[in-house]
Amino acid sequence: MKKVMLLIVIIVVAAGGWWFIAGNPDKQPQNSPNKTEQHFDKKQQSLDDPASFWVITNKRRPLQPTNYSPNDLTTPDIPLRLTAKDEEMKLRVEPAAALSNLFEAAKKDGVSLMVSSAYRSYSFQKGLYNRYVSQQGRAVADTQSARPGHSEHQTGLAVDVEPASRKCEVEACFAHTPEGKWVAEHAHEYGFIIRYGDGQQGTTGYIYEPWHLRYVGKSLAAEIHKEGNPTLEDFFGLEPAPDYGP
Ligand code: DAL
Ligand code: ZN
Repeated sequence: MKKVMLLIVIIVVAAGGWWFIAGNPDKQPQNSPNKTEQHFDKKQQSLDDPASFWVITNKRRPLQPTNYSPNDLTTPDIPLRLTAKDEEMKLRVEPAAALSNLFEAAKKDGVSLMVSSAYRSYSFQKGLYNRYVSQQGRAVADTQSARPGHSEHQTGLAVDVEPASRKCEVEACFAHTPEGKWVAEHAHEYGFIIRYGDGQQGTTGYIYEPWHLRYVGKSLAAEIHKEGNPTLEDFFGLEPAPDYGP
């Protein structure tokens, strides 16, 4: 009889101990590391393939091939500066859908946006860059416009946005408009980053472009936002690209 009692006591104590450790949520270690949240795999997508959502092109990294053009361009059904059939209003399918969602959310907050410039082919970028050079000289042009084969606009992943009123169109004052502020706060929620940030010219090679949104997908945009918006070059440990090199 004593043995049976002892056995019961042992079972009760063991079960109680088990509940205390495993079953009582209060005793779970606090701030237990969640591995999926902590580790971001920076090798998920190619940085070189022009069709990758993570492709990085800058003054030191021409697109390869330099005349690359995407094969899934589409026109988002949102306010556009030019007509819907104009190539410059197109984006690749995924960023086009993401931008539509962004515009819709902005609208709900009373903020009306418009597409100023999106896809630009190699030859279109060449004409645009050459116009900048003839107006401002090469040195100034190079701080504002990419040479053909080096522009994110050629990937179909970049879009310049502006207020529907066209106030501060592709100008620094865009950052201080309600539209510019909304975009800076919310772009990452839709998979976009402000690619050429304030004070980042030494790395990106370009002046602050608060209007230039670059689609990288939601997970990378969220991670970059979490880290305080470093440049793509810094985030991925690439060389700075202040100029076209020697
Ligand atoms: N304005 C950006 C740098 C471009 O021309 O692609
Ligand atoms: Zn741009």
